Amino acid sequence: MRPSLLALSVSLALVLPARGDRYHPERGARPVAAGGSRAAAPDAAERAADYWYSEAFAAIDERLTEPTYDDVAKNVIMFLGDGLSVPTLAPARTLAGQRAGRTGEEERLSYEHFPVTGLAKTYCVDKQIPDSACTATAYLCGVKNNYGTLGVTAAVPRYDCAASTDAATHLDSIAAWALADGRSAGIVTSTRITHASPAGAYANIANRDWENDGEVRAAGHDPAQCPDIADQLVNSHPGNKFQVILGGGRREFRPNITTDEEGQPGRRWDGRDLVSEWRAQREEAGQWNAYVWNRTELLDAISNPPDYLLGLFEDGHMQYAAEARLAGNDEPTLAEMTEAAIRVLSKNPRGFFLFVESGRIDHAHHDNMPHLALDETLALADAVQRADELLPAASTLLVLTADHSHVMAYNGYSRRGNDILGVSDDIGDDDVPYMTLSYTNGPGYRDHVDGRRADVTSDNTFQAVAWQTHAEVPLESETHGGDDVAVFARGPAQALFTGLYEQSQLPHLMAHAACLGPAAQHRQLCSSASLTSPAAALLLTLVAALFRLQ
Ligand SMILES: *[C@@H]1O[C@H](CO)[C@@H](O)[C@H](O)[C@H]1NC(C)=O
Ligand SMILES: *[C@@H]1O[C@H](CO)[C@@H](O)[C@H](O)[C@H]1NC(C)=O
Ligand SMILES: [Zn+2]
Repeated sequence: MRPSLLALSVSLALVLPARGDRYHPERGARPVAAGGSRAAAPDAAERAADYWYSEAFAAIDERLTEPTYDDVAKNVIMFLGDGLSVPTLAPARTLAGQRAGRTGEEERLSYEHFPVTGLAKTYCVDKQIPDSACTATAYLCGVKNNYGTLGVTAAVPRYDCAASTDAATHLDSIAAWALADGRSAGIVTSTRITHASPAGAYANIANRDWENDGEVRAAGHDPAQCPDIADQLVNSHPGNKFQVILGGGRREFRPNITTDEEGQPGRRWDGRDLVSEWRAQREEAGQWNAYVWNRTELLDAISNPPDYLLGLFEDGHMQYAAEARLAGNDEPTLAEMTEAAIRVLSKNPRGFFLFVESGRIDHAHHDNMPHLALDETLALADAVQRADELLPAASTLLVLTADHSHVMAYNGYSRRGNDILGVSDDIGDDDVPYMTLSYTNGPGYRDHVDGRRADVTSDNTFQAVAWQTHAEVPLESETHGGDDVAVFARGPAQALFTGLYEQSQLPHLMAHAACLGPAAQHRQLCSSASLTSPAAALLLTLVAALFRLQ
């Protein structure tokens, strides 16, 4: 044995505890966690091997009887959880179960019933750990590019307005591919509609922050050369062809000399009201349209869906679902917006592409607020469930993924059913409790007191919905994580989504499933002129097979 290894083994022997091993020390769980733990007991049936055998056999049967959905997808809905990291998935389902009075860990959310899962690599061309702009370009345009840029290739450095005027750098999104095929397209988000994720569907811009012309001017550029994101949505292809636009962000559309429906000032410097421009364009083209700014109006509009629907429900981001519920105010839920979008887009017999984002999982994580992050994830699960109920799997591909990860950890050795938002059953070696969910960095850092961590359970607002859990490294805003994100798929060509791949493959996989865009050329089935008829597609496959036999 070499000396260094010998020294190591001696030191290991010295630190071995009396019970358990060094890596998994056995220590008594604390009887009742400080925050008032509410541990439901596991179902007694789980004590028998039979329970787990049956559970497995039912899952095998489900997989064996799962249809393969061989037709071309008529509709594609991409659901995005902004910042929905893999470590957010288990706590979110556990919270759902615990809210229903169960232990929670065994719960299954809507998208967790999807038959296929995969993993996507999220780095962008110039950054190890990405933002929502370069990832949106990857998962909507099918090309990786630079951090902070949208819908342009990596030939455009961030903030470089001049470089972005070269049309050769501009990318088309899957929403544009859908429109080019005669299908409808729409976007839904709980953030400003001009925020990075939804903007990936329609903007070509060197900086994600140029949401209104004032931002472009303040950066020293001419909006006539580099139009802002709101202007692109209303006046450029493909945004100006979207049948559904639902989210927040009225301020980006309104002049800074006026206030909006709820008294908030606009941010545009050019004096233009883009909501009026949107309406005027529709009227001029004789298109049946509606603009709505609250939930009541949205639900009214949807009782007889118009052909074009614009809904802007806040001046900035929409409220967190938990806050909107508490306030009992008039904001639609993500599920309601999703249903509204589906009702409008389904009027097109050729089908549609829809992008639905729960955008504030990311904001809650940045603030080290796990309760809100999990609640926003459950709002997304509700939206997926609504779509799943409204659209048959044989014709509609549903894909759910995240743009990037975060640095929340789900840690400790708590008993089954322990409050997912509570303290760990375990305690730090400093005798200070720690939370089951905490972060490696962010604003939740607390100064140490007498060399010990602060006891967060004594905070006045401990465990309030918007309570900030603890973090290791002090940072004004918690950072994204660089780990892979999950992909869940259900519907035509679902099997394509298995495996581990570049995030930029996603729109090509979706487009392949639906015979759209560049990927359609790679699929023999797509050469049929009448894709909307499954029978015609089948006939074409048979004819093609006959030719191969000759
Ligand atoms: C409002 O717009 C004008 C130009 O029309 C600009 O000079 C001014 O700085 C803007 N105000 C704010 C608060 O952005
Ligand atoms: C919703 O919008 C309509 C139309 O502007 C308005 O009449 C109604 O008062 C609004 N409802 C709420 C709750 O703000
Ligand atoms: Zn973020």
